[in-house]
Formats: sequence, C-alpha cells, structure tokens
Amino acid sequence: MPILSVKHLSKIYEGKVAFQALNNIHFNVAKGEFVGIMGPSGSGKTTLLNLIATIDQPTAGEVIIGGRNPHLLSRSDTALFRRRELGFVFQHFNLLDTLTVEENIVLPLTLEGMPLDEMGSRLSRIADRLGIGSILHKHTYEISGGQMQRTAIARALIQEPSLILADEPTGNLDSRASKEVMQTLSASSKEASATILMVTHDPVAASYCDRVLFIKDGQLYNEMYCGDNRQAFFQKIIDMLALLGGGSHDLSTIRF
Ligand SMILES: Nc1ncnc2c1ncn2[C@@H]1O[C@H](COP(=O)(O)OP(=O)(O)O)[C@@H](O)[C@H]1O
Ligand SMILES: [Mg+2]
Repeated sequence: MPILSVKHLSKIYEGKVAFQALNNIHFNVAKGEFVGIMGPSGSGKTTLLNLIATIDQPTAGEVIIGGRNPHLLSRSDTALFRRRELGFVFQHFNLLDTLTVEENIVLPLTLEGMPLDEMGSRLSRIADRLGIGSILHKHTYEISGGQMQRTAIARALIQEPSLILADEPTGNLDSRASKEVMQTLSASSKEASATILMVTHDPVAASYCDRVLFIKDGQLYNEMYCGDNRQAFFQKIIDMLALLGGGSHDLSTIRF
C-alpha cells in the first residue's frame, strides 16, 4: 500500500473570480520514495503541498496518508496527525535561534514527552547520519546555511513521520550546501526509508529524486524516473522544463 495517495484532487479558489488551481491530480508515493514536484510558477505546486499538509481543504478528491484521510479528522485530531505523521522542511529553515542545534532537533520529541534515553539514542543516530554530530551544542547563528537545513531535516526525521514535505529546501543555499542537503535527503530516503515529497524549481536538486512529477496549469503533465544515471536524469529534467515553458526565469537560478 502506498504511504501517500493523491486521488483525483481538485482545488478551486472561490473569490470574485473562481480559479481552478488543481485539476484532477492523481498519483501514489511508495514508502521510501523520494519524489520531486516541478512546474512553472503558478502551476499549483504550493496548493498541492498545502492540501497534502492539511493546511487547506480540497474542493474534490482526497488525500490518503498511511491509510487515513486527514481531511476527515476533527480539528484537534488534524493537529495531532500533522505533528505525528508529517515532517516539514522549509526554504527558510524555521529553526529557533534561542535553542541549540540539539534542542531544535529534539523539540518535537520533547513536546511528545518521549523518555530522555530514547530521545538521546534517536538523536545520536540521526546526527551521525546527517553529519552534524560536531555542531549539536552550537546555536543556529553559529552554523552555516547548509548545516541549518540539515538540522531542520534532522528535526523532521527524528519523529519518524510517515511523510516528509519539503518546500524549496535548497532555495536559500549556495551550490555546495545545496548538494550536501540533497545528498542528505536522498540518503535518508534510501537508508532510513523516509518518504519525501519535495517541491523545487532547481533541476540539480530534482535530479536527486527517484521520480519527478511535472505539473502545468494545475494538471499532471508528465512524470520521469531517475534510473541509475543522475547526470542523464538532470538533462532530461532540463529538457522537460524547457518543454513546459512558462518559467524560463526559473532556469536562471540553476546552481552547478
Ligand atoms: N488563496 C488563493 N486564492 C486565490 N488564488 C490562489 C490562492 N493561492 C494560489 N492561488 C492561485 O492558484 C494558482 C496556483 O498557485 P500556487 O499553488 O501557489 O502555484 P505554484 O506554487 O506552483 O507557484 C496561481 O494562479 C495562484 O495565483
Ligand atoms: Mg509555490
């Protein structure tokens, strides 16, 4: 059974003029898969992520995560569902700068009241894997952007959520940090079977995914699998973006 099923999802923003942002989007994501979402600006990527994150309600269709439809839960169960089943990684890291790296990472477990020794063993396992073991006692203002994003990824992973949602996680990073972060996400999906859905406009970042979905005008336009040659996948992504059009400015931010 897939971890995530997006079933015939549509979203119409009501307003003076109603606008259909998503039209019959349908796909599944298996456990441990790392899936990218690309598309021109305004194509509906953020809308899709918000519906999956239960931040917004669909007009039609459904989202199933771990066999459950979070949109049918009560408001308090939705909050709990979001905290337990979903991990978030944002462009702006969203770390608390009054806390150390370690305190930021274990914060969600502290809120859950997890025993300290269990917390400690999860922390050291994840810090090791993400290569941030040596900065655990630093504050966020003492570390680099790439380290901040790896800290944010560790915070998302430590809960062992069903699904990690990442919105432009490399949007604020230079090419080297960006590469480190993508390697971290890719390794997390392979070694820890983390399931990740990532919106990005960066074809280099997208080339680390197992599969990339392309959306255009709110509809699924195409999907491509990486296979075993990341360089060739990168080139296919570039070609697909050129075909998609509508966001040529997006290509100006490619980081090699
Ligand atoms: N709250 C809203 N009300 C009305 N229209 C919206 C709202 N949010 C987004 N849209 C419109 O829906 C379309 C898709 O937006 P979005 O999902 O943000 O696209 P993307 O993230 O791919 O750039 C855009 O045309 C946008 O203007
Ligand atoms: Mg967006």
